[in-house]
Amino acid sequence: TRIEKAGYKHFMAKEIAEQPIVLADAIKHMVAGNALNPPAEVDFAGVDRLTMVGCGTAYYACVVAKYWFEQIAGLPVDVDVASEFRYREPPITPNTWAIFVSQSGETADTLAALRYCRDKAAKIVAVVNVPTSSIARESDIALLIRAGVEVGVASTKAFTCQLTTLALMALKAAVDRGRLTPAELAQHIADLQALPGLVSQALRIAPEVAVIAEELAEAQDILFLGRGPLFPLAMEGALKLKEISYIHAEGYASGELKHGPIALIDARVPVIVLAPRDALFEKTVSNMQEVMARHGKVLLISDAAGVAEAGAGCWRTIAMPSVPNFLAPILYAVPAQLLAYHTAIAKGTDVDQPRNLAKSVTVE
Ligand code: G6P
Repeated sequence: TRIEKAGYKHFMAKEIAEQPIVLADAIKHMVAGNALNPPAEVDFAGVDRLTMVGCGTAYYACVVAKYWFEQIAGLPVDVDVASEFRYREPPITPNTWAIFVSQSGETADTLAALRYCRDKAAKIVAVVNVPTSSIARESDIALLIRAGVEVGVASTKAFTCQLTTLALMALKAAVDRGRLTPAELAQHIADLQALPGLVSQALRIAPEVAVIAEELAEAQDILFLGRGPLFPLAMEGALKLKEISYIHAEGYASGELKHGPIALIDARVPVIVLAPRDALFEKTVSNMQEVMARHGKVLLISDAAGVAEAGAGCWRTIAMPSVPNFLAPILYAVPAQLLAYHTAIAKGTDVDQPRNLAKSVTVE
């Protein structure tokens, strides 16, 4: 079937807008009533360690998942980009599951990393969008993210579907390892089922983002900050912006700012702070204040209460719907995507086909 833009200006816009529907589909396929319903082979009971590998956006999904698996399931996770992983000769200990995240399932570096782990007798799990892909075929267990065809080179709905699939896996691991009560699991499942609705609400920030993006488009450098599982979202936000607007951007852990990048801060550098009101909110706010003290232009993205509490003195603020902490990284992908999209529109770049990039990189 031919994929059309269905009235949208770009595939990327369509794919951002589709997220509530595809996320609901991904969740529906892995939940049955109050319980998780993943493929029967997914049992983390005897697993001691996870190794997670991907490239680009898929890699950032792995980094978010590391926080989840470690915090909620107590399972240690090693994570790397595929091109480094395959050559650093990482030892693979017994009872390791190796998880490969790839939208296309054809990325050459990721596939080579998979074969390395297979040779070392790890259990191979693929988290893919394309069921017939090489990575799916060469795995022991293939988990489908159900994002539907993604055309835009900059990955959007595949990222949030990867995250959702990995969140469900982290919950499964927590159950298998005796770290979640049935009541806690039921609460997480209810939260997940509410997520597509929250994503729909979050998409309503688009007009505000478009206005802010007009000014971001003038910047030479942009910093994204986040803590905990929002740190990889800061990196993903920066990647998305670089890919399609060609503005230099970096994602930093909020607490690491003082160890270097704060030297870059002046009134011309926008600093985008991803700060849901979680346990680390106060710390992130104090890092943000360090930026403001140096006349940095802060865009604070938090929920309404967070914006009310910490928004004074910011250059701009965006109020997101409140979201359970566990799911915040998925919801905060929406502003990251919209900022990149609207900044690219303001710059007039080719959003769906950015220069020098390919949707799937099948060479080393
Ligand atoms: C390319 C694309 C990125 C993507 C990465 C990994 O670089 O431009 O958007 O994140 O490959 O692709 P995969 O298909 O393995 O997820």
